[in-house]
Parts: sequence; C-alpha cells; structure tokens
Amino acid sequence: DEASLARTPPMGWNSWNHFGADVTDADIRHAADALVASGMAAAGYRYVIIDDGWQGQRDAQGAMHPNAKFPDMKALADYVHGKGLKFGIYSSPGPQTCAGYGGSLGHEAQDARTYASWGVDYLKYDLCSFRRSMDGQSDTAQTAMMKAAYRLMRQSLDATGRPIVFALCNYGWGRVWEWGAEVGGNLWRTTDDIQPNYESILFNAGAQQGLERFAGPGHWNDADMLEIGNKGMDSPDMERTHMTLWALLAAPLIAGNDLSKMSADTRDVLTNAEVLAVDQDVRGTPGRRVMQEGPIQIWARTLADGTQAVGIINTLNHSLTAKLDLHALGLSSPVPARDLWQHRDLGSLDSKHVFDVPSLGVVMLKLGASKR
Ligand code: DGJ
Repeated sequence: DEASLARTPPMGWNSWNHFGADVTDADIRHAADALVASGMAAAGYRYVIIDDGWQGQRDAQGAMHPNAKFPDMKALADYVHGKGLKFGIYSSPGPQTCAGYGGSLGHEAQDARTYASWGVDYLKYDLCSFRRSMDGQSDTAQTAMMKAAYRLMRQSLDATGRPIVFALCNYGWGRVWEWGAEVGGNLWRTTDDIQPNYESILFNAGAQQGLERFAGPGHWNDADMLEIGNKGMDSPDMERTHMTLWALLAAPLIAGNDLSKMSADTRDVLTNAEVLAVDQDVRGTPGRRVMQEGPIQIWARTLADGTQAVGIINTLNHSLTAKLDLHALGLSSPVPARDLWQHRDLGSLDSKHVFDVPSLGVVMLKLGASKR
C-alpha cells in the first residue's frame, strides 16, 4: 500500500538526462538490460522510468496511447518486470507536457487506470503547461491549484489499487516541500533542471539547505536526477562529489546516463555499496552543509547506527589539504574513521588529521563507532 512506498529514497534510472524526448522502446529495454548486467540492479537501482516523449494520441474514448516509438507499452512493462525491475512513466497535470506531448488534464482517473493496466509502478508528474492556468493568481491561489492537481492524480492512482510511487515535479514552486507529503507525493523536485556540470551539482545540493525536516521515510526532497556518466561530468572526482552529496542529502538516486555505454569508473561510482548505504540509511534524516571555509565545504549526516557520514568537498580545480573540526561536528576525539570511496579503515583520527582532497573532488568518511 501507499504507506509502504519509498521508505528509503527511490533508486532507478530515467531516460530524460541522456535521451531527452527522443527515447524509444529499445532504449528502455537496453537500459533495463544494462541495469542488471552492470550490477546496478543488485546495488538497489530498481525503477526504469520513461520520461517525456512516449505519448501519442487519445482515442475516441479518451484513452491515451503511446506514440510509434512505443509499439506496446504493456509488453515493455512486462519486459522490465521480467528482469525483476519496476516500471515508471511520466505525465503532466496540464494539457501538454513540457516537450509538447499530451498531458493528463481532464483525464486523470482514466490515465491512472491506463497506467495501472500497463503495470506502472512510478509516475513522475511534471507541472509544465499547468503553469499557464496559474497566471495572474495570487501565490496562495497558485499553491492551492498545484495542491489540488497533485492530490487529484494521487487519488486517481490510489483508486486503481496498484501501489504507485508518485514523484512531484514542479521545480520547487510554492515551497512544495511544505505540502508535498500532504498531497501524497513520495518525492518532490526542489529546483529547476539539473545540468551535467559541476556548478549545477553544487547549486542543486546547496538548494536543499534548510529543507531537511521536510524529508523522511516515504517522502523525500528530490535534488533531481543524476548526471553521473553524462557528457560534462566525465571526471570521476566530479562524479564522486555528485554521488556523495546526493547520498548525504538522502536524495533519490535516479541515474540519467546511457547505461549501455558507461565506463567502468562511472559504474563504480554508481554502485559503491558503502556510499549507497548512506543514501539508503533507514533513519532517513537528510544531512546538510555544516561548514564552509573558503573552497572547502563540509557536509554531514547522522545515520541510524549513531555514526556520522561526512563529505569534505574541494570546490577548487586543484587539490587541497583539509582538516576536520571534530568538535564542531559534535564528535569526541579521537574518532574511528572509514574512507567510504576507498573502502579503507583509517584508524582513530583527531582534528589534526590532514586529508588530501582532489581537485573538484571529495573525501567521504564514516565517523564514530557503530552502535550495532
Ligand atoms: C522538466 C523536468 O524538470 C525534467 O526533469 C524533464 O522531465 C522535462 N521537463 C521533460 O520535458
């Protein structure tokens, strides 16, 4: 049932960041194949999500059909399910999606039934043209309109009896984090679209600052889909920074690269089990940036076992050394430390320990003795 959905941040893959609206049935099958072959499925990536671009026309009864690039949506969902994965799709509460395909306005219950009949397990619902209907309204009225639109689709999904993760996408409008859970969202985007570059990664992570208390099991702040493995993000250190921040934020991990062509480095970043365990920590409490000293940012997150996961981020394009003020992190010194990217115990450290942090890179640690 709905209450058991997304107890930890959803993990999966979505077509948009690499394929855009040019996505085809074959691309989705190849992504599902590669999720399994790469070890990502075993590492927890579960949802295969078609973003914008699958929609065709409505028939005389109003039912939405996929376009020619998706000859048989039910067969595609069966294929994805046959790999032990879950199947996700995309629509908009407006008349059109952002890429100009048909949205769900006026067809919400019908579309929800169509999705359920195909075997959909996840719906991303993107504001897009719904914005136009909000023009000229007060902020309060706009927020009420968005809440009603999202609630209507949540209720329509529920009415099908199929458990469907509901991903709100309204770019953070109307402070969606304050009401996303109330309208039945399991995650909600907090910003405009992520881009495959370092500035965008840091910006989107920074935008989560102060939103920690709105997230928890079943309802998450979504810092947007991953750009790891995409053009512009091709340094492994940048990729590790992206992954570290999303894990410390308890952000959904929805890969957005071409899985059938990824490098071994990219695969290793996406599947590092110790880093994924931080993201998926059952306590579900997002971390935050606790310190910023010049080019160094320290991010920290408290985990269920009482330890802290910490990221030391170097925002300069040359390597730096940095120290950790353990007292400021609320830790007693010395403290047992483990390097999560290197899979290496560092012994007991005090605040004088010097870390080498690579250019536009990160050191990610687990600090403290596990209480379990
Ligand atoms: C805007 C969203 O923010 C993106 O993630 C993507 O879904 C596009 N729309 C699709 O048109």
